[in-house]
Amino acid sequence: MTRDDRPAPTAPTTLAALSDAVRDRMPQTIAELSELVRIPSVSWDGFDPAHVAASADAVAGLLRGLDVFDRVDIVSAPIPGTEQTGQPAVLARREPRNGRPTVLLYAHHDVQPPGDDSLWQSPPFEPTVRGDRLYGRGAADDKAGVIAHVAAIRALVDTVGDPDVGIVMFIEGEEEFGSRSFRALLDAHRDTLAADVIIVADSDNWTTEIPSLTIGLRGNAAFTLTISTLAHASHSGMLGGAAPDAMLAAVRLLATLHDDDGAVAVAGLTSHDQEVPADDLERFRHEAGLLEGVSPIGRGALLHRVWAQPAITVTGIDAPSVQNASNTLQPSVSVKISARVAPGQSAADAFEAIRDHLVAHAPFGAHLEFGQVDLGNPFLVDTSGWGADEALQSMREAWGAEPQLTGVGGSIPFIADLAEVFPDAHVLVTGVEDPESRAHSPNESLHLGVLRRAILTEAVLLARLTERAQATDVH
Ligand code: BES
Ligand code: MN
Ligand code: MN
Repeated sequence: MTRDDRPAPTAPTTLAALSDAVRDRMPQTIAELSELVRIPSVSWDGFDPAHVAASADAVAGLLRGLDVFDRVDIVSAPIPGTEQTGQPAVLARREPRNGRPTVLLYAHHDVQPPGDDSLWQSPPFEPTVRGDRLYGRGAADDKAGVIAHVAAIRALVDTVGDPDVGIVMFIEGEEEFGSRSFRALLDAHRDTLAADVIIVADSDNWTTEIPSLTIGLRGNAAFTLTISTLAHASHSGMLGGAAPDAMLAAVRLLATLHDDDGAVAVAGLTSHDQEVPADDLERFRHEAGLLEGVSPIGRGALLHRVWAQPAITVTGIDAPSVQNASNTLQPSVSVKISARVAPGQSAADAFEAIRDHLVAHAPFGAHLEFGQVDLGNPFLVDTSGWGADEALQSMREAWGAEPQLTGVGGSIPFIADLAEVFPDAHVLVTGVEDPESRAHSPNESLHLGVLRRAILTEAVLLARLTERAQATDVH
């Protein structure tokens, strides 16, 4: 887009009023976010679902408190292929008035497990402000997304009163566990969810001062693999050196997944052809926390590796712990593999390529068993419509900086489903994270300046949509 096609600026008085409203409400906003962070809403199997239910209740309470929705419901749907029901989502809707468009605001209220508590500087579920950041599991990913929507609506109402724009809120409860009932929820509530613009607030920003509009996400293909070589364990001195233990088979097999540069070496996985910003090796080393002397892996521009190439990571292993390691040949070893799929390839194709590779490379005739396959497709955002123009203009005004269009290496697999069910909607992927947020890791945090600017961006966008006639909905 050239400078000349940019949408007209928001009236300065409106922008200033929204900015004041957001700023005045920041203490309340941070307090509400902190209450959400206190609820350990881990959606994974093996964690108490009562916390996710409590978190859904808390979110529903916040939405009801806004007093703008015609209805606020807690909804869940069956998980296909199982007898289970998915985790509760919160769904709210207000109809548009006077021919204005409808916007769907998405975030998720479930979080990743906290991991080892001892690695946290303050307890994961005790929200703690240090400097300009709020620490806690979910403080960034993605309870900040939930609160950004709430606070943006409140700033809009503070400023323009009851707005004409239609608003749908969909706050999911199992994004971190693969959104397994998402499609069923989508099908069951299609009419309630229908919108012209969809804002997915679950991504990151270029820096704490420069916002991002996310234009591409990698897909994911995760699965478990059990490698077996022996019918039973044996004394490693009696038979070691002649009988192949499963650990040896596992490490040799897993080593074939990458070449000597650390680039993925699986035939059939594809990369996406796209431009990326120039390398900034120092920034990369800092963000990743590379130790002295440790080099990056892969080939090509650094951000091309992360945004546009496949990746394969072994994220877990079931084998005797070091403390319990007896002198034994292991009969079988299980691993969890988490692969990322470049835009342009389906997750199913990528999984097939990896499975074929593993089967073809199994050493010593080891037996392989695959399980718990979880697939999510990559997504490329169409930035050519008016929705993206409006979002970019709102970012410029709220941040006072030119937004960066970015890919991300992470995955939000349901976006592909959303786009399929609502093909005419403008999908916009925004977020409240920044490069130091450390989502999923110990000491996850949210930059409070980013939170304020993200809220203002969304408030400005909602105000602009309130002024926009639905009839101009042309791509
Ligand atoms: N918010 C992330 C996705 C993300 C990651 C956006 C990095 C921007 C930068 C989301 O909550 C997430 O963690 N997704 C999972 C998906 C998986 C569970 C299928 C992921 O990427 O691991
Ligand atoms: Mn997220
Ligand atoms: Mn996440």
